[in-house]
Amino acid sequence: FGKQLWKVPTGRRDGIVSLASEALIGLPSPFSNFSALKDNFAMSDLSVHDLVTLSGAHTIGVAHCGAIRKRLFNFTGAGGQDPSIDSEYAESLKMKCKDPKDTTTTVDMDPDSFLTFDNHYYSSLKGQKGLFQSDAALLTDKKASKHVEELLKSPKNFFDQFAVSVQKMGAIKVLTGDQGQIRKKCNVVN
Ligand code: HEM
Repeated sequence: FGKQLWKVPTGRRDGIVSLASEALIGLPSPFSNFSALKDNFAMSDLSVHDLVTLSGAHTIGVAHCGAIRKRLFNFTGAGGQDPSIDSEYAESLKMKCKDPKDTTTTVDMDPDSFLTFDNHYYSSLKGQKGLFQSDAALLTDKKASKHVEELLKSPKNFFDQFAVSVQKMGAIKVLTGDQGQIRKKCNVVN
């Protein structure tokens, strides 16, 4: 990409305890509906605007089949797929994720553009090709849908707003004073 998008503060303190069992605490689930997402972000003082903008990070990367299998094969609990997903897209995902025991296969998140950081995620969303229920959920709210339109309008809108929101996110629960420590080596506790 070759462009500076935002400043990253240096000198952050690190915690001294790290537990795998705590890794998911506070994180929203990909099965969330809009109000669950909104509440989850609000707990960190992030707005609906931040939610829609930061979800745009799903313009890059991959996800494991486990995060979408329910949506494809058993949406209501009585079988069947989520009616809000594009049917051709759903078919291609089903092919890749058909084995319920498979825990390793991944699928691209922003189909056709998963290696590029751009605002293509929002056109995927509008084409009913958001990968998770939590992506599709952004179109179920009026205010959120309006933000989707804004971010879709120009890549610059997305880059500028992403820079603001991601810095807000980066400031969540920063350790200060004598909390944690400044590591001598960045990958090990002192
Ligand atoms: C809005 C609520 C969000 C939910 C429910 C969510 C959920 C998920 C899930 C389930 C995955 C796939 C993990 C896997 O199967 O390996 C994923 C991947 C990813 N998420 Fe999110 N996410 C959210 C917000 C965010 C935010 C705020 C960012 C960053 C600003 C982000 C960046 C990413 C990236 C880059 C990946 C791809 C990782 C990879 O390729 O290995 N997500 N997300």
